[in-house]
Amino acid sequence: MSAPRGQFSSNIGFLMAAAGSAVGLGNIWGFPTNVAANGGAAFVLAYLVLAFLLAYPALMAELTIGRHARRNMVQALRGIATGPTSRFFGGLAGFGGIVVASLILSFYAIVAGWMVAHLVGPFASLAGAEGAVEWLTGNSTARNLTFTAIFSGMTMLIIASGVEKGIERWSTLLMPALIVLLLLLIVYVLTQPGAMQGLEAYLMPDFSLFSPQLMVSAMGQAFFSLSLGVGTMLIYGSYLSRQESLPRLGALVTLIDVGIAFTAGLLILPAMYVAQEAGTRIYADSGELIAGPGLILQVLPALFDTMGTAGLFVAIAFFALMVIASLTSSISMLEVPVAFAIENLNVPRRLATPLVGIIIFAISSVIIFNFDALFGLVVSASTEFGQPLLGVALCIFAGWIWRRDQLLAELREGHPGIEHTLFWKIWPWYVRIVCPLLILAAFVQSVM
Ligand code: PHE
Repeated sequence: MSAPRGQFSSNIGFLMAAAGSAVGLGNIWGFPTNVAANGGAAFVLAYLVLAFLLAYPALMAELTIGRHARRNMVQALRGIATGPTSRFFGGLAGFGGIVVASLILSFYAIVAGWMVAHLVGPFASLAGAEGAVEWLTGNSTARNLTFTAIFSGMTMLIIASGVEKGIERWSTLLMPALIVLLLLLIVYVLTQPGAMQGLEAYLMPDFSLFSPQLMVSAMGQAFFSLSLGVGTMLIYGSYLSRQESLPRLGALVTLIDVGIAFTAGLLILPAMYVAQEAGTRIYADSGELIAGPGLILQVLPALFDTMGTAGLFVAIAFFALMVIASLTSSISMLEVPVAFAIENLNVPRRLATPLVGIIIFAISSVIIFNFDALFGLVVSASTEFGQPLLGVALCIFAGWIWRRDQLLAELREGHPGIEHTLFWKIWPWYVRIVCPLLILAAFVQSVM
């Protein structure tokens, strides 16, 4: 019935793709600003602990189910179900994952579109087209529609080329570029006046700020940042060869994700204080550091403006970094519904990609036209409700429903003798009991 399935050609290819999915706006924008808003290193610490103790086990559930099933989330969860009820809930959760991944992409593409527009801005400036610069960096509906369309088109082009020639090739190309750009920018910013004050704000813990709310924010951040709950990691796992050790690859993905989030903080916080030194406001009227769109779209551009011509190149490097980070994440989101269309509806990839991509772009457009009413709503529905609840479902499927011998057999592939490791002694219980309870507790806390 189905065409031959794609597969990553190497474990490096998988690693770049999965790390590319994980590393995105959530790391470079979300993490540093969460840190700034939540007591500096106290948040960093909470995040590190939760990333390894909660997000990593959940990531392992997705990767293992995906590689075992070699199918999208709907078929994968139905496949490990043991009776009609669990089959029904498997299908429901799988379908939920597809809807939530698509919703995340619909708002993510808008934000990424802003990044593309701001990347083009300095080129227009170099060409002396000041009117164009104003349009590009203004906030009109036409600008937003245009650049969301451009970014969505880029995402579709990559996904239409398939797993190895699209996802793997582009992630392997873009991830090293991302790291180089990030490091260059850090070196530059840290030599500017004011940077050290930013480093201090980033790294000095204020433990009095430890609170349940901080833990909830840190958990949400870890879940979003590792792309959990919506089947992205599950589908990437389904393209992974049986020769690789899953616990090892999962740990590497977590390390890269956490490492890049931490490193991005070394850029963003110092850059804010450099901007302050150069005369830009970095505190909102409420006395808090500006963290939302104002940070990336006003504070940092104002800083680049004070740097003269050099600032144009710094701006190009910075927004190129943002676009790359967004693109390696957006392709993983689009792959979720596309894989479903290919495998469940039998549509060829070349057709499935534009079909699904255009539907999601239509949702983005509705959000753009009703920005104030819809943007925040879609963000919180998908990331504060959808992701944690689906995360719980995935843990329940891995921990309670899936037969333990099959689970072990899958983990043993690429990791012979795993049954004698600490991982096997702890993880199955962990994913069975600790993960769902912790996620639910945090969910209840955040909803109340
Ligand atoms: N992890 C991505 C980021 O940090 C976002 C993402 C969420 C990607 C869910 C895929 C699925 O930006």
